[in-house]
Amino acid sequence: MKEIKEEIYKLVKLLNKYSYDYYVEDNPQISDTEYDTLYKQLEKLEKEYPELIQENSPTQRVGDVVLSEFEKVTHKVPMLSLSNTFSTEDLRDFDNRIKKVVANRKIEYICELKIDGLAISINYVNGKLISAATRGDGTVGEEVTDNIKTIFSIPKVLKDNKTFEVRGEVYLPKKSFNILNEERKENNEVLFANPRNAAAGSLRQLDSKITAQRRLSAFIYSVVGDNTIESQLQALKTAEEYELPVNNNYKLCKNIDEVINYIEYWDINRKNLPYEIDGIVIKVNSYSLQEEIGYTQKSPRWATAFKFPEEELATKLLDVELSVGRTGIVTPVAQLDPIVISGSTVSKASLHNKDVIDELDIHIGDMVIVKKAGEIIPKVVRVLKELRLENSEKYIMPNRCPSCNSELVSKKDDPFIRCVNPECPEQNIRKIIHFASRDALNIEGLGDKVVATLYEQGIISHTIDLFSLEREKLIDLDRMGEKSVDNLLKAIENSKNSSLDKVIYALGILNVGKKAAKILAEKYLNLTTLMTATVDELINLPDIGLITAESVIDFLSNEINIKFINDLISIGMNPQYKVQKIEDDNIFSGKTIVLTGKLVELTRNEAKEYLEKLGAKVTGSVTTKTDLVLAGEKAGSKLAKAEQLGIQVISEEEFISMLGEKKVNG
Ligand code: IVH
Repeated sequence: MKEIKEEIYKLVKLLNKYSYDYYVEDNPQISDTEYDTLYKQLEKLEKEYPELIQENSPTQRVGDVVLSEFEKVTHKVPMLSLSNTFSTEDLRDFDNRIKKVVANRKIEYICELKIDGLAISINYVNGKLISAATRGDGTVGEEVTDNIKTIFSIPKVLKDNKTFEVRGEVYLPKKSFNILNEERKENNEVLFANPRNAAAGSLRQLDSKITAQRRLSAFIYSVVGDNTIESQLQALKTAEEYELPVNNNYKLCKNIDEVINYIEYWDINRKNLPYEIDGIVIKVNSYSLQEEIGYTQKSPRWATAFKFPEEELATKLLDVELSVGRTGIVTPVAQLDPIVISGSTVSKASLHNKDVIDELDIHIGDMVIVKKAGEIIPKVVRVLKELRLENSEKYIMPNRCPSCNSELVSKKDDPFIRCVNPECPEQNIRKIIHFASRDALNIEGLGDKVVATLYEQGIISHTIDLFSLEREKLIDLDRMGEKSVDNLLKAIENSKNSSLDKVIYALGILNVGKKAAKILAEKYLNLTTLMTATVDELINLPDIGLITAESVIDFLSNEINIKFINDLISIGMNPQYKVQKIEDDNIFSGKTIVLTGKLVELTRNEAKEYLEKLGAKVTGSVTTKTDLVLAGEKAGSKLAKAEQLGIQVISEEEFISMLGEKKVNG
C-alpha cells in the first residue's frame, strides 16, 4: 500500500510538471502519447485505490488542462494556421512570391494586429449563436459554446436572420491577466506565464461560471460561408455591421513598404494596447486573388504572420537575495542592474529554487540574458559564460535563513529550501500580513509596511498581539496620525466578526486556500470543532485530498497553533459558519452530482444552477464520492466510469421530471 501511495505521488508530481511545461512554459518536454500513457497509468491506480486519490492529481483537475470532457467538433472548413516571417527580408520575399502570381494586376494587403489568444469559430444560424468551438488541431476542435456565451462583446443574437460562421481570437486583456495572476498567487496556485495561456485555460473550463469570472474578450477577423463577400476588407466591414467585435486597427496597404511602416508603428506602440499582440497578420485583400495564390498543407500562401522579436537583453546580475515566505520557503531572487524590457524597468527576477540556480550556473557579477516571459514576468534565460571574470564566485545557496539565521532544511527530491524556525521574524511578518490580507480578515490599514514597522518596533511579534495594540504606542509611530490609528483599531476590532471560512484561511495552513477553507468551515462550523478534525474525516470531504488533510492535521497538532487558536477564541473571535438555507426535501440535496454528455432541453449551466439551488454539489469528475450522474446524449468516459462504480445514472428527461417533483423517490 505504501508503495502504491508513493507511485501515485510520483506520477502526480511528474504529470503536473509536464503539464506545467506544456501550458505555462509553453515548452512541452514529452509527446502527447507519452503523457497519455502516464496519465492512464495514474487513472488505473486511482480507480483501484480511490482512497489514495490526491487533491492535486491531474485527473481531478477541471482547470487549466484540457479534460476529454468537451464534445469534439469537426470544422466545416479547416482552421489553418499562418506561416511566420521574422524580418523585412522575409516580408519582401513573401511579397515577391505573391507578385509572381498576381503579375501586373493591382495588389493590396490588409494588415491586422495578431492578437495573442486562441482561435475560435462561432456559428450563427438564423441570427442566433448556436455553437462555438476552439481551433483544436485545425480539423477537430472542442465545443465551448456555453463558455463563449460568457464573453460580453460577442452577440448571442444578430440584428437579422443571418447564417454564417465567424472566426476570431479569444484573449484576456492585460489588466484581467494581472488580476487573475494576483488572485492565483494569493491562493498559492501556479501563475499563468502569459495572457494566451490564461485565455486558453479560462476557455477550457468545464464550469462556465469560472470562465465568466475570468473576463475574457474577443476579436473577430474572418467570416466563412458568405458568398457575397469578395475581400478581407469587406469581411471585416460585414462583421462590424453585425456588431461583432472587430479590432479597428486594421489597415489597407497598397504595397509592401506601407506594410513595413505599419509593422514599425505597432512594434513601438503595442505596449500601449490593453491586450497583448505577438505580431502583425498580412493578408492579400482580394478573395479571388487569394484563391489563385492558394494554400500549402497547413497555411494559406496569401497570408503571413510577422512575429515581433521577443526582447531579450543583457544585464549584470549584481547579487542574489533570499526572500522568506510565510510558509518558510526561501526563494532566491536575482538583483539586476536595472534595464527597460518591453516597456518597463526590470531590476529583479525570481530564480525560484536551487534547481534553477544549478541549471543556470550563476556567478555573482555575471552578465545574464533577461526576458519577460509572455512579455510580463521577468526571467533570467541564461548566463553569458564567455564574459565571466576569472575570479568570479559561484553562487551557492546559503544554508542559513537570512532572517533568523537558523539552519535551512532541504529535502531529497524537493528543490525548495525551507526555514523551519517557528519564531523566524520574516516568516512571522509574512504570516501577519497574510492574516490581515483582503481574502483573509481584510483588516484595512494593515498593509505590508505597517506590519513591518510594528514588528520592527517590537510592538507586535505574533499575530495575536494585533488584538492588544495600545493607542498611545501607535500614535508615537512615524506617519501614523490619530485618525489612521483609530481607523486601524476599529478595523482590527471589526475583524473579530469575520466568518469562519475567512478565519480558517487567515490561519495560513499549508495547502488550505480559500476554497478548502470554505469546505472546512461548512463541515466544522466553529474553531472548537475544527480542532477535533481527523485525517479520516477530512479526506472524506469533497475536494480535500490526502495532502491537504495531512497539512490540516499537522497544523492542528502543533502546540503553538493550538495556543494561537485558543487565544483567538479568548479575545472574542469565535466565528460561526452561517450555513446557507437550502431546500432540503428533495432528492438532490446534499448529493454530489456529475453532468456529462450533451443536454437538449437545458444547457449544462442551467442544469447546474438548478442543482446548486437544490443544495447539490456539481463536480467535474466521477469518483467514488459521486452520488448521481446526469447523462445527456453521447455521454462517454464519465458514463462508463459511473457504470463501473455502480453510481446511479439518470437521463435528462428523468432529471426534468424529478425537478418537477423535487421529492425523494428512493
Ligand atoms: S487569420 C488562415 N488574423 O494567429 C488564416 N489570425 O498562426 C487564419 N490570429 O490561429 C488566421 N490574430 O489564432 C488571423 N488578425 C488575425 C489574427 C490571427 C491572431 C491567430 C489565430 C491563428 C494564428 C495563426
